[in-house]
Amino acid sequence: MILTTTFVCFCLASAFNYFRTRRQRLMIRNLKGPFTWPLMGAMHKLLLLSPKNFFKCSTEYLTKYGSLSRCWVFHRLFIPLADMELSRQLLESETHLETGYELMKDWLEGGILMCQPDQCQRRHGLISGLFGNGNLEQLMELCRQQAEKLYQKLLDKSDQKVFDIWDTVAPNVLELMVRTTCGANPSEEYAKNLADLAELYRQRFLSLQSANRFNYWLSSPFMRRRQNRLIRSLNEEHQDLIARHQKQNKLKNGIVLVEDNLEPLPEKWHESLLDTILKSRDPELTPEEICGELNTCNYLGYLLCSSALCFALVTIARNPSVQQRCWEELRLAQNKDGGWDLEKLPYLEAVLQETLRLYPPQVIVGRQFKKDFPYTHSIVGDGELPFGSEIYINLYELQRNENRYSNANHFDAERFLGSSPELLSFSLGPRCCPAKNFSIRLLKTLLAPIITQFELLPYGDELRLDLRLILGSFNGFQLALRPRKSVYNP
Ligand code: HEM
Repeated sequence: MILTTTFVCFCLASAFNYFRTRRQRLMIRNLKGPFTWPLMGAMHKLLLLSPKNFFKCSTEYLTKYGSLSRCWVFHRLFIPLADMELSRQLLESETHLETGYELMKDWLEGGILMCQPDQCQRRHGLISGLFGNGNLEQLMELCRQQAEKLYQKLLDKSDQKVFDIWDTVAPNVLELMVRTTCGANPSEEYAKNLADLAELYRQRFLSLQSANRFNYWLSSPFMRRRQNRLIRSLNEEHQDLIARHQKQNKLKNGIVLVEDNLEPLPEKWHESLLDTILKSRDPELTPEEICGELNTCNYLGYLLCSSALCFALVTIARNPSVQQRCWEELRLAQNKDGGWDLEKLPYLEAVLQETLRLYPPQVIVGRQFKKDFPYTHSIVGDGELPFGSEIYINLYELQRNENRYSNANHFDAERFLGSSPELLSFSLGPRCCPAKNFSIRLLKTLLAPIITQFELLPYGDELRLDLRLILGSFNGFQLALRPRKSVYNP
């Protein structure tokens, strides 16, 4: 009896699902994809996926089904994409702007990645304003200070012993990001909470219990409680900062205030994201939206810049001729005050771009369709992807395509000198990274003293790539450092 009822329910649900997705199925008949079981679709493909085997599986998948395919999981239609022509059309579209960061909702709610498409242009402008000409030089001074701190920390590690450079780089980048966004040094507790929360979300990524919100709610009550506690405590500090800002602004405008115990804000010479947001009044963001924006930039800036910097350091350590050329270029670009003229570092910039091509910190760029997406393609032909589908652009595969990049898996910074090939690591179009230029300058500034003062030694294990929210290496970023004998001091 139980078996029969289960069987009948299964058949009814499958039939319902079939009719519900009929239009989408008809529209993507031209796409190949894995076998679709009734109701469950190609669930087996996702069940086998883990952070460690992601790249092996995705390469096999693309070889089998091509760079534009379809994969059903229950009623959801996933479109894995690793084709430059189509990715460009999609990313440059002004219509398809939904990014779909469901996993991060509790943390990033209210921020740009979660806002309605009609708001994202304004929010994008707001964040881009932070990195505008008026403030960029001041932010670079912040980066220079942080570079000095990083160099001092690395001095303790320069005994030629192998270590994981992530452990030193990541806390430093975190501090820099919080100073950029919140305008104050993070308290020890804030820094720990932010790092812990990022780690918690990295664990959740591609794990079965977090496949959707309901699963997570049901299966991981302790993790969920910890997550909510961390988010709450970060946002409490944000709210406190907002209150202190507002008090300071009122005092500046000569408004007399009732005594309170809010501490004055620390002195600073740059404009932070919080300043930019509070200054903007078209229309004013709510405190929840401000917290969402700070969380979004802290999360993206901290993890993506840390990943980029670690991959760059390991790559430079493992390519002695690249290291030598960077060192020589840096010597020539050093100013009298000991800093570097960032404009005179084209080779280092090419090294960073090549690193970002081979190791894009954000591997997947997602879009969710709220309307059909008509496309034209020189090889696949014309077609239309249906409303409701979820597109996942795989930047890692896309930027290692032999047809686009000669000797694609080989590190060759020279390809970015002169007429550069296309690089999508910061995405494209209306939702591209608003901090692209800032990030490249930040990476150059942090790398400069390290390469000048230390020899990076290619010791330790090779990178073993994994995907836990961002591109990482599951055996860490191993290398060793030796102080250089003769450092050029003009
Ligand atoms: C090497 C460093 C970085 C890389 C590789 C990178 C990459 C990206 C990519 C690929 C996107 C597009 C996401 C999507 O379309 O779903 C993006 C968006 C974004 N990035 Fe970055 N990013 C970096 C650094 C930063 C930093 C330092 C910040 C802020 C301080 C930042 C803030 C943002 C924001 C706010 C967005 C969302 C833009 C929007 O949705 O309109 N990023 N980034």
